[in-house]
Amino acid sequence: MHPRLTNRCSRIEPEPPPLLYAWLARGTWFGRIYQRYLGDLAGNQPQGARLLDVGTGPGVLMGQINRKRPDLSLVGLDKSYGMISQARRVSKGLGGPLMAWVVGRAEALPFPSAFFDLVLATMSLHHWDHPVAAVVEIMRVLKPQGRAWIYELNRDASLRDIKNYAREEKLPSMLVYLVFNFVRWHSALKEVDFAQVFHRAGVPEWQLQQVHHIFWRAEIQIDAFSGRKRLQ
Ligand SMILES: C[S@@+](CC[C@H](N)C(=O)[O-])C[C@H]1O[C@@H](n2cnc3c(N)ncnc32)[C@H](O)[C@@H]1O
Repeated sequence: MHPRLTNRCSRIEPEPPPLLYAWLARGTWFGRIYQRYLGDLAGNQPQGARLLDVGTGPGVLMGQINRKRPDLSLVGLDKSYGMISQARRVSKGLGGPLMAWVVGRAEALPFPSAFFDLVLATMSLHHWDHPVAAVVEIMRVLKPQGRAWIYELNRDASLRDIKNYAREEKLPSMLVYLVFNFVRWHSALKEVDFAQVFHRAGVPEWQLQQVHHIFWRAEIQIDAFSGRKRLQ
């Protein structure tokens, strides 16, 4: 028995069409969001770290990480062959020590244990069929002292949060409000969603951070000394 997330997406499980999604991902709206993830990520990784992006979609964010941090080994995984085809196309010409695209499921990651320094998942968890199994897998593939960052939209973001986000992005508040409300019921998550998933995955400690006003970021850290896996 696995928990049902409170967003509607988890019940109807629509798949974004890869071509359309790849086009959107290269556009301004997604670009601004990726810049925020990138700002969080790029300065925080040790030289030569190994990073896995679960539910990478068309791989646009991975391409941006590669341009900013060509020393990192990057692996993008998605269950959709169409998304991975787009990622291969979009990333042509990019280099680095390792840049690999893998068709696979978050719930059964095709990698050895303790393999990655960082596991990333952006706007993907709310699509996963079995988020508990996926979180267990993510913890398995993390190295001792590795960590995972899971980003999702915050369904409980307030009007003030939306306005602050719009102000920082220099966008009309009304436009951001309308777009956010259009996606919030289908895609955004509540704190209770993370609580259920992490509890059932056996994560002993966790907390969520509200970042960039309208997002959640859950961080899973592997504690090298006790071997415990925890969220902060
Ligand atoms: C909304 S897109 C997000 C793509 C990208 N991470 C981004 O931020 O633009 C969600 C992605 O998760 C993938 N996905 C859904 N369920 C998955 C699963 N169980 N395992 C791996 N990927 C999955 C979908 O195919 C889709 O590409």
